[in-house]
Amino acid sequence: MKFLVTGGAGFIGANFVNYMVKKYPEDMFINLDKLTYAGNLENCKESENEPNYKFVKGDIADREFIFDLFEKERPDVVVNFAAESHVDRSIEDPEIFVKTNVLGTTTLLDASREFGVTRYHQVSTDEVYGDLPLDRPDLFFTEETPIHTSSPYSSSKAAADLFVKAYHRTYGLPVTISCCSNNYGPYQFPEKLIPLMISRATADEKLPVYGDGANVRDWLYVLDHCKAIDLIIRHGKVGETYNIGGHNERSNLQVVKTVLNAVNKPESLITYVQDRKGHDRRYAIDPAKIENELGWKPEENFDTGIAKTIQWYLDNEDWWKNILSGDYQNYFQKMYVDKGRVEE
Ligand code: NAD
Ligand code: TYD
Repeated sequence: MKFLVTGGAGFIGANFVNYMVKKYPEDMFINLDKLTYAGNLENCKESENEPNYKFVKGDIADREFIFDLFEKERPDVVVNFAAESHVDRSIEDPEIFVKTNVLGTTTLLDASREFGVTRYHQVSTDEVYGDLPLDRPDLFFTEETPIHTSSPYSSSKAAADLFVKAYHRTYGLPVTISCCSNNYGPYQFPEKLIPLMISRATADEKLPVYGDGANVRDWLYVLDHCKAIDLIIRHGKVGETYNIGGHNERSNLQVVKTVLNAVNKPESLITYVQDRKGHDRRYAIDPAKIENELGWKPEENFDTGIAKTIQWYLDNEDWWKNILSGDYQNYFQKMYVDKGRVEE
């Protein structure tokens, strides 16, 4: 099988590509990524020289480019991770979220129809369900929870999901969707809560906690997400949405204190800052459907996953220091353009 994985130079996409390239040597994986600020080819270094892996630079919203690529490569399966993914950036500048997350998705859907892919999988988020109250720990997001978004980011992801469903119902495109809770693990860009706090704490810098720090997220180790997507693609029912999460709810303050404790830094580094606009209070997934239908269970809980993650960031300081200095953006030039492997 030939897979087209979009956004494979980002956090989750790179973990997915590295996992799949190794697990399925008989399958081919094309990693298509625009290399925005969030794309970093160092994330896929371990796949770079594998015979069943290829990188292509491009924009999922560029129709001509996407149709040419599908014509040339004829992928069997499309897995769409490519997105603008940071809520705070979406509040500053929503337009690129519409372009990449909505128009990019419909462009991929059109090409998938035209060239007859056997599966289109959309990587979505639990943020499409809005938020839950803090005082109702009995409530969880199920696949039947109505779409009720808060931020421009979540609205763009929900809009994309609606198009994916429409292409199934209207044109019979064989689609699946997964809505996952907050991920953490290696290669997460240090603008997101956990890597931001690890990098700042090790440098004795202040840790900015939004509002009262009581907001709750349901944390899933990235590899458990990747394994769930693999299962959905191979065994999931066409036309269905699957929620992915492992009942690991923590308040932001608990997460930040866990990080501080692990790197031996004082809680006095915590600084409360102005709250995010429209800040969702609590996310929590009910994973019963994927557990019962596909037998998925996460292998990490928050305690084991966060310990592994913090250790990875401590062992790979160069990786995030290159990001903070901006050096990682030279990687494509050095490894691909200068070596004549691709034209820009
Ligand atoms: P990320 O920001 O780390 O990576 C996104 C990748 O997409 C980058 O490599 C970027 O270069 C690429 N990209 C952006 N615009 C593109 C375009 N127009 N064309 C081609 N490539 C483009 O994001 P992530 O955290 O890895 O998230 C991946 C997907 O998973 C997203 O769709 C996101 O909505 C979803 N998701 C993320 C989380 C999470 O906690 N991070 C949870 C649930 C779902
Ligand atoms: P984030 O990692 O941006 O993920 P999301 O908004 O998609 O859940 O943020 C996770 C939580 O941490 C969210 O409630 C906002 C909060 N947060 C802070 O308190 N301080 C920060 O500097 C950041 C980036 C996030």
